[in-house]
Amino acid sequence: MLVYSSSAPETTRSVARSLCDKLIVGDVVLLYGDLGAGKTEFVKGLAAGLGVDEPVTSPTFALLNVYQGRMPLYHFDLYRLDRLEELDGIGFDEFIGGDGLAVIEWPDRFAAALPEEFIKVIIRAGETVAQRVIEIVPTGVRYAGRWEGSGSN
Ligand SMILES: Nc1ncnc2c1ncn2[C@@H]1O[C@H](COP(=O)(O)OP(=O)(O)OP(=O)(O)O)[C@@H](O)[C@H]1O
Ligand SMILES: [Mg+2]
Repeated sequence: MLVYSSSAPETTRSVARSLCDKLIVGDVVLLYGDLGAGKTEFVKGLAAGLGVDEPVTSPTFALLNVYQGRMPLYHFDLYRLDRLEELDGIGFDEFIGGDGLAVIEWPDRFAAALPEEFIKVIIRAGETVAQRVIEIVPTGVRYAGRWEGSGSN
């Protein structure tokens, strides 16, 4: 597990940007945290790290936004999802372990739809309004050893 302390949105984005160096095609990042925790800020950092040059916005209503970088970035927000069938409608399964990086806000809305292996990112409030604690937990064989020798865990 990697743990970071962030005291500004820029720091949250740069933590995400540095995570990108370790990410490969087919990876899945699950983003946990309350409303306003900074999940979308984190995705902005991932996008920057992948070289996406368009602005990243929250896909709350669209459920999915797609960006092109060194690999495609599939940004899901399941907050407003009501029925599991809606995920089929947007081709959810194709994007999980697909040809790019899949990032999912509010994954706990539909836990049954999630893959078995993922990088879990948990963003918690800190002691001040701008403070956050960011935990990054790679889970499963796919991610095992990827952070070895990086000195950050
Ligand atoms: N350290 C920080 N890290 C991230 N965001 C911060 C931080 N400090 C303040 N903020 C602010 O908190 C807000 C985070 O908004 P963001 O849309 O990223 O949250 P979210 O977790 O995606 O919420 P939602 O569940 O509504 O999608 C932004 O307005 C950002 O400027
Ligand atoms: Mg968001």
